Amino acid sequence: CGIVGYIGNNDSKEILLKGLEKLEYRGYDSAGLALKNDQGIHVFKEKGRIADLRRAVDKDMFATIGIGHTRWATHGVPSKENSHPHQSATGRFTLVHNGVIENYALLKRELLADVPFKSETDTEVIVQLVEKFVGEGLNVLEAFRKTLKLLHGSYALALLDAEDSETIYVAKNKSPLLVGLGNGFNVVASDAMATLQLTNQFVELMDKEIVVVKKDEVTIQNLNGEIINRPPFTAELDASDIEKGTYPHYMLKEIDEQPAVIRKIIQTYRNEQGELTIDREIIDAVNEADRIYIIAAGTSYHAGLVGKQFMEKMAKIPVEVHISSEFGYNLPLLSKKPLFIFISQSGETADSRSVLVKVKELGYPALTITNVPGSTLSREADFTLLLHAGPEIAVASTKAYTAQIAVLAVLAEVTAKSNGIDIGFDLSHELGLVANAMDVLCDSKELIEIISREFLSTTRNCFFIGRGLDYYVCLEGALKLKEISYIQAEGFAGGELKHGTIALIEDGTPVVALATQEKVNLSIRGNVKEVVARGANPCIISMQGLNMDEDSFVLPEVHELLTPLISVVPLQLLAYYASLHRGCDVDKPRNLAKSVTVE
Ligand code: G6P
Repeated sequence: CGIVGYIGNNDSKEILLKGLEKLEYRGYDSAGLALKNDQGIHVFKEKGRIADLRRAVDKDMFATIGIGHTRWATHGVPSKENSHPHQSATGRFTLVHNGVIENYALLKRELLADVPFKSETDTEVIVQLVEKFVGEGLNVLEAFRKTLKLLHGSYALALLDAEDSETIYVAKNKSPLLVGLGNGFNVVASDAMATLQLTNQFVELMDKEIVVVKKDEVTIQNLNGEIINRPPFTAELDASDIEKGTYPHYMLKEIDEQPAVIRKIIQTYRNEQGELTIDREIIDAVNEADRIYIIAAGTSYHAGLVGKQFMEKMAKIPVEVHISSEFGYNLPLLSKKPLFIFISQSGETADSRSVLVKVKELGYPALTITNVPGSTLSREADFTLLLHAGPEIAVASTKAYTAQIAVLAVLAEVTAKSNGIDIGFDLSHELGLVANAMDVLCDSKELIEIISREFLSTTRNCFFIGRGLDYYVCLEGALKLKEISYIQAEGFAGGELKHGTIALIEDGTPVVALATQEKVNLSIRGNVKEVVARGANPCIISMQGLNMDEDSFVLPEVHELLTPLISVVPLQLLAYYASLHRGCDVDKPRNLAKSVTVE
């Protein structure tokens, strides 16, 4: 979910709606606004997108204070009733919340049994508690503090009091929240992007902090009321980075940005002597470890699988890759000196963050590889490596995936070099060739669109098969297709098909096969023959040098270890066109959110 707030002299309505549009990537099931003016607090909510909310808001209303929310449903179905803001029983307090309150049922039963509830959400408990404690004689700040002390779970909150036209109360625990500083106004946002048009000066909030936001004053305090002084930072984001420009979709723009991102990574991680380099302390931490544990979710997990190959093949360090939501509750037997690497585009994924918290409790070192400087995972880990991919807005991740793989390659090469291991090739030169190959692929859209139409426009399912590195890319290709076209797609290890999955092959079932690895080129082609014999419609994507007449698409040649960086590009484009041809919402697929800040 995303939240935004404004307090100043101007009309807040449009500022909040624009902010919510920028935060829509965090969830788009329903949205709402609360606007405060001399007549009181006015709440507008709508199931659906910000565009639906915009239609519902009273265009003539003028209000200089407001809070807004865009929701990714956790407790309670997406509906008008369950969407935020939520109000207390008398309507005095109005609240927006991002996160999950784990003990809300208990609090409701024990403290609020007599209070009438309007929604099924955990959030309503918070606002009802504030009202209850104010009713018992506390002032609003004391009541807010007392409420927060009772909450177990995650929250980013913004609260309005109908009897106070000068304050937004804000608090945070585990979920991200920033306060933006302006001249004669201040703002609150889940992400700097939301209010970048107004200010690039932000103050970070730490867990269990409260901020009293007035139009020309911001006071941070902890839950005991002790004042905290923290200087603002400048958000290094360019407002034009977050616009679509002439592209019909962010996803297409971000696919096309991949060659530039790879070049930027080479440039950023190269020193004056032209050698790839990384902070000494990170290399020392990697070298001190006897095993690396990569922890990630979704697409980042798929990048981690490729990263394992790099670290093991180039740097000779054993690596395990784990899904964060599983790892936290099912800790494997750890090695004596583990190093944890968290891979996360957003740096905010709650599943990964909860593992990081455990890892720090156990006293182990952690490195975060993320696209977002200052994100929670970056702040809380010992070390950070940045992706330099620029903001990724489309929910389906593309350029962050290839950037993660490129940065993992750099990490592996620099580690190898520090141990006197010769990896046998010049990585920065080879990454340069990868960027050129990506350019060629981005120019091949017409052909890929034709292939997508032929194979995917009417199918109900699709399989992706590959061996070795190709298998990992197949997992990502299948995820892309599922996410944005809703075609049931699965990635399989080519040799494993015959042990069960091949039963699903029917006449015409599309099977996309990757063939970029010399060692397994003939075996994957054998697997294609097996599915064709059972009626499948094959689409072989091979690499130049390994290609054969039967192939649908041939990739430019790059170093064999780096093929995931280019073989994924046609798979991203296949998914993009499948989504487009089926009339789906490419950038905001149903049920998903880009940054999932709940476990
Ligand atoms: C969400 C997104 C996925 C993403 C995953 C991990 O589920 O929809 O596209 O891969 O989170 O996100 P992260 O920001 O940690 O890489």
